[in-house]
Amino acid sequence: MITIDLTGKNVLITGGNSGIGKGIADLFLEAGAGVAIADIAFERKYTRISERLIHLKLDVTDRTSVSEAVRTAAESLGPITILVNSAGISTMDYAVDIKEEDWDRVMAVNAKGTYLVSQAVAHQMIDGKIEGRIINIASQAGKNGYRCMGNYCSSKHAVLGFTKVMAIELAAKRILVNAICPGIVETGMKHRERIDGAKLRKMTPEQIYEEDCSQVPLGRTANPSDVANVALFLASPLSSYMTGQAINVTGGMTMN
Ligand SMILES: NC(=O)c1ccc[n+]([C@@H]2O[C@H](COP(=O)([O-])OP(=O)(O)OC[C@H]3O[C@@H](n4cnc5c(N)ncnc54)[C@H](O)[C@@H]3O)[C@@H](O)[C@H]2O)c1
Repeated sequence: MITIDLTGKNVLITGGNSGIGKGIADLFLEAGAGVAIADIAFERKYTRISERLIHLKLDVTDRTSVSEAVRTAAESLGPITILVNSAGISTMDYAVDIKEEDWDRVMAVNAKGTYLVSQAVAHQMIDGKIEGRIINIASQAGKNGYRCMGNYCSSKHAVLGFTKVMAIELAAKRILVNAICPGIVETGMKHRERIDGAKLRKMTPEQIYEEDCSQVPLGRTANPSDVANVALFLASPLSSYMTGQAINVTGGMTMN
């Protein structure tokens, strides 16, 4: 029987306090990894939860906060061998109405945040000669356009571009860089989007949920665990010949 065992690996997961990031943290803990959950939602800078789990307060848009979190994770658990960039936000508006502060904030968290954290962890991996993994939680919005999500789609296209360039440049160091493109995942972000989208489109959140399900060939939206399973594969030796990929986890909604 093949099992995926991450004993001895240490993973830093941004945005790991809820939704997809939390699903990944739970699964990676179950697989034996040391886990640093780094999230802006935490009150305290550092909390040790157990021998293999720490919480770090992190703002991915702030270089100082990023370098502190990366250093603390490595000091506390050992060198980071796997990075998962899951921190992300969205706002909704028609493209002609997007407010400048919403454009800037979404680009800062989703695109700049991925760049800052990836860069800091990559330096640590290169210095430690670690054959690491970087897994970016992008979106099918990194490949397609969706109404009322102009800033979000732009930010996720940027994440996929950066994933590909890092994959090329870090291949010689044996650091593999891939992205996951989830479809519609039942999380706090998605529930907020349905409320905001319903207001903009003069529908109800329930109608948007029905519309969401109707667009998915597999007939249901995703749970965080659907995405976490693919992240575990990308963190494992089973994916050792893959880099620079953008893998859809969309129930068939996106096929390109
Ligand atoms: N839910 C979906 O349908 C869906 C689909 C495709 C992609 N995604 C992506 O998956 C990722 C996770 O989203 P989710 O749906 O789990 O949302 P979520 O809101 O449940 O989780 C996002 C987490 O990121 C944290 N965060 C926000 N800003 C931060 C910052 N500046 N620094 C550090 N942490 C910060 C939040 O506190 C939260 O814990 C995001 O990148 C999102 O764009 C979500």
